[in-house]
Amino acid sequence: MRIGILNSGGDCPGLNAVIHGVVGAADELGWEVIGFRDGFEGLLPPGDFTVLKPKDTVGILKLGGTILGTTNKGHFAAKVGKGDIAEVPADIVAKAKRTMEQLDVRALIIVGGDGSLTTGLQLYREGWPIIGVPKTIDNDLHATAMTFGFDSAVNSVVDGLDRLHTTAESHKRVMVLEVMGRHAGWIALWGGIAGGASVILMPEIPFSFEKVAQHIKDRDAQGYHSSLVVVAEGAILPEGDLVTIDPNTGGEVRLGGVGDVVAKRLEKLTGKETRSCTLGHLQRGGAPTSLDRILGMRFGVMAVKLASEGRFGRMVSYQAYHVDSVPIEEAVNKLRLVEPHGELAQAARAVGICLGD
Ligand code: F6P
Repeated sequence: MRIGILNSGGDCPGLNAVIHGVVGAADELGWEVIGFRDGFEGLLPPGDFTVLKPKDTVGILKLGGTILGTTNKGHFAAKVGKGDIAEVPADIVAKAKRTMEQLDVRALIIVGGDGSLTTGLQLYREGWPIIGVPKTIDNDLHATAMTFGFDSAVNSVVDGLDRLHTTAESHKRVMVLEVMGRHAGWIALWGGIAGGASVILMPEIPFSFEKVAQHIKDRDAQGYHSSLVVVAEGAILPEGDLVTIDPNTGGEVRLGGVGDVVAKRLEKLTGKETRSCTLGHLQRGGAPTSLDRILGMRFGVMAVKLASEGRFGRMVSYQAYHVDSVPIEEAVNKLRLVEPHGELAQAARAVGICLGD
């Protein structure tokens, strides 16, 4: 029995832990694992892959990124623009299928986010033996309470805020930190709470600059002369706009720049010196936290279990401290967003954090 694994979409701390889990569990069953390089692209003839034995995964748990490479572009991209779904063309699917048949791959584990799992769902519906493993630092996938990579990203935000805190205090400044998360505010909310932010702005909660500025002025009046503001890259300006980078290049919209806009507006309204900083891909790189290593490894083990039971078309899922699975179709094309009045947002408000509303 031979199975395949590929990573697809943006990289994410913990991908190598999934590979470690898959290879270890498959080896126990006497199966061979081949890893396709650079996402689905590795399936295109003649096939770009490597055989993965347990000894090839020694020492990879601690590595960020993925030893297999990945891409969020290419022939298999399922998402074009915000929310638009494009099917993978039939000729591309046929070519990839030939590789699967020639290599006699009996199950294909796709480790990816919403877009890659949408591609996986299309292939499953066309008869492929697909198992999905959810991956994204954004933690916005429906049908799983957590994805590996999120905890590592949050830790980067907390580290960034800890550093900004001392410089903000020294200069009595407002520091704005822009963080990732695409259209969800999970990284901003978790990172902001854990890093001691005074203001957290997210896509899910419409905000007013006047309210944020008043909060900062009130803090000043109370004797706190610096403030940390976390803004999610997908936060929507009061005028209704997302701030994007080169919006006309096709593909998924690239978010970025909202931190600068927020800093300028707050400086004007508060009269306080304000600087902005974008954490960017520092959130995606580097070693995974222990939580992400363990979650990734467990996801890999569960993916092999699903393959051994012939339960294709399912995605590994984490619910109530258990790793289980759900049909892929239940997981894709539905974002899991922060509830504006859910317990977590209310807890943030309760400790005096301004969410901009
Ligand atoms: O989905 C993960 C993510 O890191 C988002 O938070 C971010 O908007 C995007 O990917 C960045 O993508 P790229 O690496 O293509 O710039």
